Amino acid sequence: MTVQTAATSFEDGQPPQGPHHVAIIMDGNGRWAERRGLPRAMGHREGVQALKRTVQAAPRFGIRCLTVFGFSTENWQRPAEEVSDLMGLVRAYVGSDLDRLKKEGVRIRILGRRAGLPTDIAAIVDKAEANTAGNDRFLLQVAFNYGGRADIVDAAQAWADKVARGEAAGPLTEEAFALGLSSAGGPPVDLIVRTSGEQRLSNFLLWEAAYAEFVFQDVLWPDYGAEALGDAVAQYHNRDRRFGGRHPASSKAARAKG
Ligand code: FPP
Repeated sequence: MTVQTAATSFEDGQPPQGPHHVAIIMDGNGRWAERRGLPRAMGHREGVQALKRTVQAAPRFGIRCLTVFGFSTENWQRPAEEVSDLMGLVRAYVGSDLDRLKKEGVRIRILGRRAGLPTDIAAIVDKAEANTAGNDRFLLQVAFNYGGRADIVDAAQAWADKVARGEAAGPLTEEAFALGLSSAGGPPVDLIVRTSGEQRLSNFLLWEAAYAEFVFQDVLWPDYGAEALGDAVAQYHNRDRRFGGRHPASSKAARAKG
């Protein structure tokens, strides 16, 4: 199969350079709704449709893992009605789509603090993880009740607890520390996308973002889908990832010199 993106095309649908793991800050649901004179809840509802389209399209671009920011530790500050709408969407999304995702080989993983979630939501996410744990075609990670700083603090606490129990001793390494993050065991993040034109990380994947590429797109999240994702992937293909080192033979400068 040949996959065509805005940038290039790939035999077998597998771009060799990735991105294999794309993380998305799904921003702009509220503005999408307000521009139409609709309640914000409608924007979030359309946001779920955009999420479904994006998960469906991702494998076509060689993406094996998507991580989306569904609800941050700061989102509890929103009006109770909006928080309740967002929780309702998780119930509805998992309720209606879990069987299909399971059949399609999607593994679901929730990043973030389980404590603090409404009891039924915690049970729903536990079930989604357990029911799809054997899948390995595609990994969908939903950051929910997630904050990057909180996650780093939790990893530090996990390390301190291990030391206190005599299960670990210093010096602490990056690899050992990262085992305490909720993303532990997942693939490295290649690309972080934020929609709606805002250009900030908002406490998303602070540790994991260290060498990720960033793409900011003007599209509001409810309008997102295959086309916008293809555009983000095309932008990624124009980047020259060096991870702090140098690749003279492959760098843009070297290519330009001929
Ligand atoms: C940001 O838009 C979006 C969110 C805070 C929530 C994202 C949630 C969804 C797309 C719903 C689906 C989620 C799951 C987990 C099934 P905003 O409300 O900040 O938009 P604004 O900046 O235009 O106000």
